[in-house]
Amino acid sequence: MIFSRVIGTGSIVPGAPVSNDDLVARGVETSDAWVSERTGIRFRHLADKGVSTSDLATEAARRALEAAGLRPADIDLVIVATTTPDMVFPSTACLVQSALGVPAGAPAFDVQAVCSGFVYALTIADKFLRSGSHKRALIIGAETLSRILDWSDRSTCVLFGDGAGAVVLEAGDTPGILASALHADGTQHGILSVPSHPEGGSLVGCPFIRMDGQAVFKFAVRVLADVAREVLEQAALPLEQLDWLLPHQANVRILQGTAKRLGLSEENVIVTVDRHGNTSAASVPLALDVAVREGRILPGQTVLLEGVGGGFTWGAVLLRI
Ligand code: UT7
Repeated sequence: MIFSRVIGTGSIVPGAPVSNDDLVARGVETSDAWVSERTGIRFRHLADKGVSTSDLATEAARRALEAAGLRPADIDLVIVATTTPDMVFPSTACLVQSALGVPAGAPAFDVQAVCSGFVYALTIADKFLRSGSHKRALIIGAETLSRILDWSDRSTCVLFGDGAGAVVLEAGDTPGILASALHADGTQHGILSVPSHPEGGSLVGCPFIRMDGQAVFKFAVRVLADVAREVLEQAALPLEQLDWLLPHQANVRILQGTAKRLGLSEENVIVTVDRHGNTSAASVPLALDVAVREGRILPGQTVLLEGVGGGFTWGAVLLRI
């Protein structure tokens, strides 16, 4: 039987951290107290003009390859999860393939599931590898969300940041990914969106993030707890044997609410939202890489990755590192 396993992680955030007070200094009508108390966010990183999503994705991938001890030529599948692609087309994955030097011929494509994008992409890659068609995949979550923020809307602009994270997934005999589940409910498309598209040479509709924060909050806590139970059950892994819960990093109160609903100690939850803000599709692989490099997530441990976001979409991947 073929399984897939994460054999390397990498990440990058652009530039220096930007604090809540820095946002106040830039004219956002907010305060450090409001943002840190309501969300747990203290810092985020914002890409300079000229730094693209594919730049961040390429660097995160390079670091993941280095951690895995592999070269771009060893990769035969590239998937990028992003909601802020460099262009309408070609895909960011094709740009990364070219920038990294992954051999021509390997399939490369983007996945759009907003903040669930990485979990969607990892699940898709797992299915490719388990089918025997491909051997080593690069799965990347990368965003320059600052480009779609309305800096005059304090209810959204303080929440998001830029960054990228990547993993190398390899096919083999040892189980790494133990279970996965993906879901969507398109009837909820209106509670979180960037409702615009290019048409006839200009953008039609609002090109910024629009969100009903409280509706998103309630939806997120419910589905994150439900999908965590679903994958634990699939793998027949008792909650007590789960080492780490690593949910999408949107708001520390969502992370705490999810842990509480599951009956899991907050000590078992990976939290990086305080330093990165919400980096959408990048948040899960970024937090994973940070926790691995800090020696919190150790080889042999079980980790439950979870995504939730626009669509509405949600999903989870349970893996042994
Ligand atoms: O990837 C998924 C994406 N999104 C999320 O996960 C976000 C989920 N939602 C949330 O995290 C929370 O709903 C928010 C952090 C967005 C908002 O927190 P809240 O506790 O639901 O606040 P609220 O929207 O009810 O606003 C409370 C007050 C309002 O003032 P009034 O009407 O009570 O006078 C807002 O105008 O806070 C005000 N407010 C702010 N004040 C200072 C909203 N944003 C800010 C701000 N600074 N940045």
